[in-house]
Amino acid sequence: MKRIPEPFRIKMVENIRMTSRAEREHALQDAGYNPFLLRSEDVYIDLLTDSGTGAMSDRQWAGLMMGDEAYAGSRNYYHLCDQVKSLLGYPFTIPTHQGRGAEQILFPCLLAKKRREGGGQKPVFISNFHFDTTAAHVEMTGARAINVVTPKAFDTTTYYDWKGDFDLDLLQSAIEQHGPENVVAIITTVTCNSSGGQPVSMSNMREVYRIAQQHRIPVVIDSARFCENAWFIKQREAGYQQRSIKDIIYEMYQYGDMLTMSAKKDPMVNIGGLCCFRSDEDLYNDVRVRCVPLEGFVTYGGLAGRDMEALAIGLEEGTNEDFLTYRIGQVTYLGERLKAAGIPIQYPVGGHAVFVDAKKLLPHIPPEQFPAQALNNALYLEAGIRSVEIGSLLLGRDPDTGKQKPSPLELLRLTIPRRVYTNDHMDYIADALIALKAQAHDIKGLTFTYEPPVLRHFVAKLKPVE
Ligand code: F0G
Repeated sequence: MKRIPEPFRIKMVENIRMTSRAEREHALQDAGYNPFLLRSEDVYIDLLTDSGTGAMSDRQWAGLMMGDEAYAGSRNYYHLCDQVKSLLGYPFTIPTHQGRGAEQILFPCLLAKKRREGGGQKPVFISNFHFDTTAAHVEMTGARAINVVTPKAFDTTTYYDWKGDFDLDLLQSAIEQHGPENVVAIITTVTCNSSGGQPVSMSNMREVYRIAQQHRIPVVIDSARFCENAWFIKQREAGYQQRSIKDIIYEMYQYGDMLTMSAKKDPMVNIGGLCCFRSDEDLYNDVRVRCVPLEGFVTYGGLAGRDMEALAIGLEEGTNEDFLTYRIGQVTYLGERLKAAGIPIQYPVGGHAVFVDAKKLLPHIPPEQFPAQALNNALYLEAGIRSVEIGSLLLGRDPDTGKQKPSPLELLRLTIPRRVYTNDHMDYIADALIALKAQAHDIKGLTFTYEPPVLRHFVAKLKPVE
């Protein structure tokens, strides 16, 4: 298994503290067996998310000192616009506080536009896979969120290069079924977080855009991990090996009309987002109007000038090919070690995380006892590692019937922050999971002691089933 040395030197460190088993038992009990409710200081290695948890570079920290904190027209805003224009080719930029900030200002404007054009009576958005907040913002407009990712994504054991792709037949039939006049937008999520950080091929992006144009449906590129997606295209797609990452990114954005971005991932800032447009200046103006009351004035959108500067610099650093090779190599290394030890994972490994198939690892725990959350807790008790459940607990209940929605997968996401943990940390994580596998049959399922009505996984309280 290939280990790629970190392509950086460490200039500043933050100490972390290992706890005792007794301390962790106590902390987990206090947290209602829900690691979301742990104090970060009680966690040794935190794999909850790669969002906002990356380490900024010396250049980004230097950028913070160059913040122009004018209320309007900050120099850093213009630097950010220039970066977006040269990297993605989009001339109209609105900064937002994070990805969901972009979603909340864009989606209602898209629906209003559709209605002005005479459609949108039974509105839907179609995506390869809506991230949870994306689906929530779609539903808050009164529309429905439909996912049409390739069914190959749900077969974790079989290798497929593009487990983030749209299934084009499913896309076509969803458009026909709902009527193109009701499809508010198609959202291309790169990489596809929910299927395992899996890439979308360029040919798929191109074809989705062609279908969308045919039906006059706008395409939004949900861009949290766009650099990682470009890296996979360079590695795996015929004709792209000789192209630069920047070149590939530029082409990807020709297959969209606008973008939302959580800049807390690939551009490695702790806070920030973007909402940008390729040519629809009228829509851009509508969204700017919504930005002011919800996010802030149009040239800062909830960010300080210094944050925009760090983001402008991070957009550039995120595209560095040597960095991406190391970054995705580190995640792959962890995944390959687990796979070699017989731990079932989503394969191939995605860009930002290793997804452990808890349904396969803990077949004795039924979905309604949340096998991936049980594994999350066991891993915390074993080694002080916090990760996140992507399964039945997250999915929740059908609002109409009150019944648990059937989840296609029960996954534990080991999400790797950028430039934060070393390869030795990866070995520590792998060793801990491999040790747990030997005691897998002793791991118990969970039941609620408190179940919130919506977005329950964040604050639910649970206890082990006896
Ligand atoms: N879209 C995708 C694909 C995401 O993964 C996220 C966030 C968002 C939108 C929302 O962005 O958090 O900046 O408001 N994903 C994080 C995660 C939270 O852990 O995967 P945000």
